[in-house]
Amino acid sequence: MAGPQLRVLESRDAVARTAAQWVHDRAWAAANARGRFTLALSGGTTPRALYQQMAAGPRLPWDRTVFCFGDERNVPPDDPESNARMAREALTGQPFVNQSSVHRIRGELPAAEAATDYEQTLRRLFPGATSFPGFDLVLLGLGPDGHTASLFPHSPALDERAAWVAANWVEKFGTHRITLTFPVLNAAAEVLFLVTGDDKAWALREVLRGSAPVAEIPARGVAPASGRVTFLVDRAAAAGLGQST
Ligand code: 6PG
Repeated sequence: MAGPQLRVLESRDAVARTAAQWVHDRAWAAANARGRFTLALSGGTTPRALYQQMAAGPRLPWDRTVFCFGDERNVPPDDPESNARMAREALTGQPFVNQSSVHRIRGELPAAEAATDYEQTLRRLFPGATSFPGFDLVLLGLGPDGHTASLFPHSPALDERAAWVAANWVEKFGTHRITLTFPVLNAAAEVLFLVTGDDKAWALREVLRGSAPVAEIPARGVAPASGRVTFLVDRAAAAGLGQST
């Protein structure tokens, strides 16, 4: 199985534009082939530009797109920290998006309850899933410490092998996050990482060139059985990869 693919692009904007085309093409392919496109949105700040591009760019099969989330902070949906809020402001709140196709993690609930609630939501959306739900596309980011979704270094959810969604205690933030687990990320047909900025250079090198255990660099645990993993990164984030990029 080929390792992750790497595309180094000039700028954050180029990453957002390329990712928007990527999502557009996958959306129509899935909708035409299977009647729907299941997408797990990433949080943080990097994907906002992508979501804005998706909203402004060539039309997606909005009526056949199912929006889910890879993770959420333990906050209400109108909180500035909320991933659902970020996505809503940039994309999912648009009039052409059917709100019944947007399935946010209820971060306002106690974390364990939010995780169970979201697993039930996913089980309704993927009734045929024998072991884990197979998203058509999972979008992920990368933290400066090597975390992805809300799978942080040395955090309990890294070892979760049964649950689809976990309430993960993140010591450095002194709070829980709610996150899809590795088995779900690795059941996806395709994973697309968006990584921009020089503050990600160390982590990106560790993920792509390093050999650290997943406990230290959780993003190294993303290895879907399909083998389809691509990193869309800008030159600043790729600075640690040397000439071979
Ligand atoms: C979150 C994300 C997280 C994010 C990275 C990168 O909720 O924060 O899902 O995994 O992708 O922390 O965040 P930035 O895009 O803000 O650098």
